Amino acid sequence: MQGFNNNVALVTGALSGIGLAAAERLHTDGAQVILTDLADPADPKVAAILANFGERARYIRLNVANEDDWNAARANVEAHEKQLDILVHNAGTSGNGYIDTIAFSEWRKVQSINVDGIFLGTKAFTSLMSASGKARKGGSSIVIVSSMLGLVGFANVSAYCASKGAARLFTKSAAVEFASREMPIRVNSVHPGFVATPLTLSGLKEIASENGLPNADTLITELNKTTPMGRMGDSEEIAAAIAFLCSTDSSYITGSELVVDGGYTAR
Ligand SMILES: NC(=O)c1ccc[n+]([C@@H]2O[C@H](COP(=O)([O-])OP(=O)(O)OC[C@H]3O[C@@H](n4cnc5c(N)ncnc54)[C@H](O)[C@@H]3O)[C@@H](O)[C@H]2O)c1
Repeated sequence: MQGFNNNVALVTGALSGIGLAAAERLHTDGAQVILTDLADPADPKVAAILANFGERARYIRLNVANEDDWNAARANVEAHEKQLDILVHNAGTSGNGYIDTIAFSEWRKVQSINVDGIFLGTKAFTSLMSASGKARKGGSSIVIVSSMLGLVGFANVSAYCASKGAARLFTKSAAVEFASREMPIRVNSVHPGFVATPLTLSGLKEIASENGLPNADTLITELNKTTPMGRMGDSEEIAAAIAFLCSTDSSYITGSELVVDGGYTAR
């Protein structure tokens, strides 16, 4: 695959799970990476993660649901790197609950992070990424981390499914809009299946305790049975798909969806 030398990438939710794996993969392949997440820059976790990256990495605190944070991040990148070639909208939250019992505030929280975050970030960086894209084959690249649950329904997670379905169609709308306005920005979505990250494991633990189970082991075994490949994915397998869509190897791909789910939605 083509590397990312001279490319600047910003990844949201980059201190954990899939976001961290994506930041690591882009960095390993040559990108200058801006990790962003909710943690305060002074949090020792941030220093520990940046130490593993070494050069070509820095951190900005960015709550994706907050427009001011996005505008500050853009001003920061414009002042320092002066370009943005890759934006990975990865930050996300789950939100379990049956439709007749989930609190409206919980529903709104899921939409504000998983949907508003993508809109606000794309809006904030359109101009800079359009300018940066002129110098790159196929243009700059936005990758939106949706989910296989943006393609099919699932009980107990309607707020999440709705948000990930919105992410999928925002992707396609942005791709068509940028191309038709001759703005060199490609936009694609990635749809992971069950991946063993803190997000999944905490969601499963919650469901287990709601159902009186001692831990999430039985649920994990059951989930594995529902996946044709018989296992959960790992974050690096999702990061590989993200990296492909970020790279110039995918220069003619925009508005598409790459499903990385061990065959779950193939049936
Ligand atoms: N793990 C899975 O099985 C799975 C499957 C499909 C899709 N996804 C999607 O992948 C993405 C990453 O999930 P993960 O499993 O790595 O989760 P994770 O919980 O390990 O990491 C999510 C990161 O996002 C950050 N975050 C949460 N709210 C934020 C906000 N408002 N602003 C900025 N950062 C915020 C968290 O601090 C955390 O570092 C999410 O969009 C998720 O919906 C995950």
